Amino acid sequence: MKGMFITVEGPDGSGKTTQLQLLVRALTEKGYEVVTTREPGGTKVGNSIREVLLSPEHDEMTARVEMMLYAASRAQNVEQIIRPALSRGAVVVCDRFVDASIA
Ligand SMILES: Nc1ncnc2c1ncn2[C@@H]1O[C@H](COP(=O)(O)OP(=O)(O)O)[C@@H](O)[C@H]1O
Ligand SMILES: [Mg+2]
Repeated sequence: MKGMFITVEGPDGSGKTTQLQLLVRALTEKGYEVVTTREPGGTKVGNSIREVLLSPEHDEMTARVEMMLYAASRAQNVEQIIRPALSRGAVVVCDRFVDASIA
């Protein structure tokens, strides 16, 4: 892996997206190829999973299923977006990653 993987973590409203955008701008100005992504989501499949996860319609979802859907979204994101970007030397900045699930 030639690239660099940076994840931004914190509670809702703590400023993740704000800091992420500042970081992306600074890295881009320095000439890095920057790929931004988020969790859950980041891919077409992941965004569909995100809708299921965030929908109040699914409030009966068990904790185990919720955790597996986060993991499924992450697996698609790693294989489709993150790993290929890191392989070509890009900096990947992800709005939440596995630390959010662990927390
Ligand atoms: N350093 C900061 N000082 C004051 N307000 C901030 C700061 N960073 C972000 N905010 C504000 O806090 C709110 C939440 O920020 P946001 O980046 O969307 O958080 P998150 O992505 O973690 O939910 C926004 O209204 C944003 O403008
Ligand atoms: Mg945000």
